Amino acid sequence: HVIGVDLGTSAVKVLLVDWTGKVKAEWTEMYPLYQPHSGYSEQNPEDWVEKTIVALRKVLEASKIDARSVVGLSFSGQMHGLVLLNEKNEMLRNAILWNDTRTTEECREIEERVGKGTLLSITQNRALEGFTLPKLLWVKKHEPHLYKQARTFLLPKDYVRLRLTGHVAMEYSDAAGTLLLDIRNKTWSEEICKALDVDIRLCPPLVESTEYVGTLLPEIAEQTGLPVNVKVFAGGADNACGAIGAGILAEGQTMCSIGTSGVVLAYEQTGNKNFAGKVHYFNHAKPNSYYIMGVTLAAGYSFDWLKRTFLAETSFSEIVKRAYESPIGANGLLFTPYLVGERTPYADADVRASFIGIDSSHTKWDFARAVIEGITFSLNESIDIIKASGKRVETIVSIGGGAKSEEWLQIQADIFDTPIEKLKNEQGPGMGAAMIAACGCGWFESLEQCARAFKEVERIVEPSKEAADRYREIFSLYRDIYPHTKELT
Ligand code: XUL
Repeated sequence: HVIGVDLGTSAVKVLLVDWTGKVKAEWTEMYPLYQPHSGYSEQNPEDWVEKTIVALRKVLEASKIDARSVVGLSFSGQMHGLVLLNEKNEMLRNAILWNDTRTTEECREIEERVGKGTLLSITQNRALEGFTLPKLLWVKKHEPHLYKQARTFLLPKDYVRLRLTGHVAMEYSDAAGTLLLDIRNKTWSEEICKALDVDIRLCPPLVESTEYVGTLLPEIAEQTGLPVNVKVFAGGADNACGAIGAGILAEGQTMCSIGTSGVVLAYEQTGNKNFAGKVHYFNHAKPNSYYIMGVTLAAGYSFDWLKRTFLAETSFSEIVKRAYESPIGANGLLFTPYLVGERTPYADADVRASFIGIDSSHTKWDFARAVIEGITFSLNESIDIIKASGKRVETIVSIGGGAKSEEWLQIQADIFDTPIEKLKNEQGPGMGAAMIAACGCGWFESLEQCARAFKEVERIVEPSKEAADRYREIFSLYRDIYPHTKELT
């Protein structure tokens, strides 16, 4: 057996998988998110470690398998979060997460001091608030006493891996989201560090996502019940691992993932194309390959906000079902999901969400439908950019919370006007992590071969022409909202 650990934003989800790709047991442990000011988003890395250990123990107990049959483990993790460590590898402050947007000023500083063109040519990305480098500069400026003590920094799942194995390492798919990596040459950029007066020695050793990093520490083996010789592989960014799980391993393959954030991701063979920073362009967890993606900051997060604020007593599936009874376009109600700003296509941390066209006849289910449609419209903006860049998008594999509902899958097919692949027993990024471990343990020769064995398409959800036409009209109204609301906050 192998284990995939997905360190998400709301919870850690652990999958225990056999050699056929069957999930023998899964376990989820939640942890809190701290948002002390608007735009701030932090977590305590100690919570990640503690809950990962609990989840590993629980998943093993739930599976009832012989612990000695577990041979490999790997990780998927929320991207970009800054975990700052001192010389003893102890964390210096809470982690600042991917959806924290306090760093607009630092982004401006990066683009000025490095130069937009240089930054783009080295990292293939623009400076966005969510990325790691602006967070590092924020700490340097606002908490210099902590910055002075910093000896290295890690990303969330790299920190958990350190605590489980004792090895410090960062792998390329996550390093790509720091804005410090030369993504083509796969080295830390001296040029960027110099321009910003960041000591390059803060950057940790780099490894491939598929690389073996070590075994479990004895005390971790004891606390989890896992054998001490379980082989641990580096793992990947959650979006890269989601893509592996969805079999996005060759040109022409596209995925839509709706988790806390939402992404549309397309495979890229090389790091040499020019997307002019319109989409994120990162190293894939499949060695020496890449992907581009557009990100909706508050996708599942918008839905959770709706539920928490207005429909706390109603289940996720009931809300989507009742929302689906409201017609296409939610009886004229539109929602933009900019609760914490937006990444693609606006790169605007300050804009905020809106409902447009509220009528006294609207019900709460119209609001729910508008939220689901608004999230999906936002993802459609990324699809439009990906298509405009010349990529073919013939089908889209849907994963995450948005793939769990038949109704939302149909809404995706209709708004994207593209057939949607629904996977059987879809498990999100944790499955990609388990696949990295399965390949690392030598069960398969390649991730492609593993995907052929593990991935099963349950069905294709076809778009309805009539619905797609109607949505095209509504989408153009949706697009009009941003320019009219961006100045209001
Ligand atoms: C990607 C991003 C998010 C996180 C979510 O750039 O910020 O999708 O990876 O965990």
